[in-house]
Amino acid sequence: MSRQPKPMNPRYFPEDFQWGVATSAYQIEGAANEDGRGPSIWDTFSHTPGKVVDGHTGDVACEHYHRVEEDLDLLVALGVNAYRFSVAWPRVLPSGRYPVNAKGLDFYDRMLDGLLARGLRPHLTLYHWDLPQALQDEGGWANPETIQHFADYAEVVARRLGDRLESITTFNEPWVVATLGHEKGIFAPGLTDRRLAMQVSHHLLMAHGLGVQVLRTIVPRVKLGIVLNMAPTHPARLNAVDRAKAQLEDGLLVRWYMDPLFRGHYPQDVLNHLGADAPDVKPEDLRLIRQPIDFLGINYYTRNVVHAEDPSATPPGEMGFTDMGWEVYPQGLTELLVRLTRHYNPPPLYITENGAAFVDRLEGDRVHDVERVRYLETHIGAMAEARAQGVDIRGYFAWSFLDNFEWALGYLKRFGIVYVDYDTQRRVMKDSAHWYRDFIASQRIWQPSVSGA
Ligand code: FCB
Repeated sequence: MSRQPKPMNPRYFPEDFQWGVATSAYQIEGAANEDGRGPSIWDTFSHTPGKVVDGHTGDVACEHYHRVEEDLDLLVALGVNAYRFSVAWPRVLPSGRYPVNAKGLDFYDRMLDGLLARGLRPHLTLYHWDLPQALQDEGGWANPETIQHFADYAEVVARRLGDRLESITTFNEPWVVATLGHEKGIFAPGLTDRRLAMQVSHHLLMAHGLGVQVLRTIVPRVKLGIVLNMAPTHPARLNAVDRAKAQLEDGLLVRWYMDPLFRGHYPQDVLNHLGADAPDVKPEDLRLIRQPIDFLGINYYTRNVVHAEDPSATPPGEMGFTDMGWEVYPQGLTELLVRLTRHYNPPPLYITENGAAFVDRLEGDRVHDVERVRYLETHIGAMAEARAQGVDIRGYFAWSFLDNFEWALGYLKRFGIVYVDYDTQRRVMKDSAHWYRDFIASQRIWQPSVSGA
């Protein structure tokens, strides 16, 4: 029943399509205690025994903070024309609120100049999970005051950096922040309270809305949007119980975020399911959340397959599994993109993350990561198929530029197309990086147009 993606036709992608790689601050920067940076909830979490495998932390990570020039040169070697990164809120506002730490902003200021000097388009994310610990001490995202603190932070960043940005993303993956951070407890701040998690999800969406309002007035020319992690959810069996479960899971992952952002309400079936755990929502909150935005970012890794009685049931995995245990399922990307376009009529889309962890072996100057090459090739093919079906996609960002701190799994999982030897901090382009560079170059040679003319 699974449909393989069509072979990729490079002519599907126009000349101005953005090809990039993505990172986030806490996963690569290191320099956790330098130049006035304050602690974030991920510093606290990773330094709490038992939370991250082998006690790994982001204290050093890829030392990107000190190697930024070398890393920007590497972006040039990759041949990308865009770069997605995040700003560490606690570098800019160490206590989460004023005063500003000038050295923190200076770092991103230099990075932007370096990107523009190299002809790369900067895509900035404001919140990739590193809330200043001082705000967590006051309740974090469960406290509605954090919404205003976020808007103030957005303003500080936009005033200093906005003149050189292609886009600003308010939030990366609010589902992860709310559900993995506040319900499942496996990510910072490590809480396990579903009622609180749902209230947090609502506050994150409100902070997105307020952030967009503030940013519009300061940087009217910068594209503004949000990044959601999404996937199709399929029933393991075609019976009523699995279908009902798949419907609910889809509600919690996709519709819980897409409906308020684009339709102005939460999905009723999910509200019914949540009962007393549903968040407190005022009508004006929903108006705030539904701000016009210029793009929607989609992070896609795999699909979900759900079985009503057996939560550990594994999907078929005809194309195998990654080192995360995630099924390789490129056609799910086409399915998701086509569905979102038909049901929500969203603004232009970017694939803001897509990639895979595999066990890599450094052999001299090479890493022969054939599985990652295949993963990228088939998913770019699946994106091309969605474009052929009328989906408006403007860019693709491979996750990730570098191997990095993979949250609760520390440095054990390698997602980079560039290998990082953590003992020496040497960077080595994997075969997937060479493949991606050649693929992007082939797009330029073709000079394709969407119409294929
Ligand atoms: C996404 C995150 C990103 C990275 C990838 C593997 O959920 O946004 O930071 O961890 O997964």
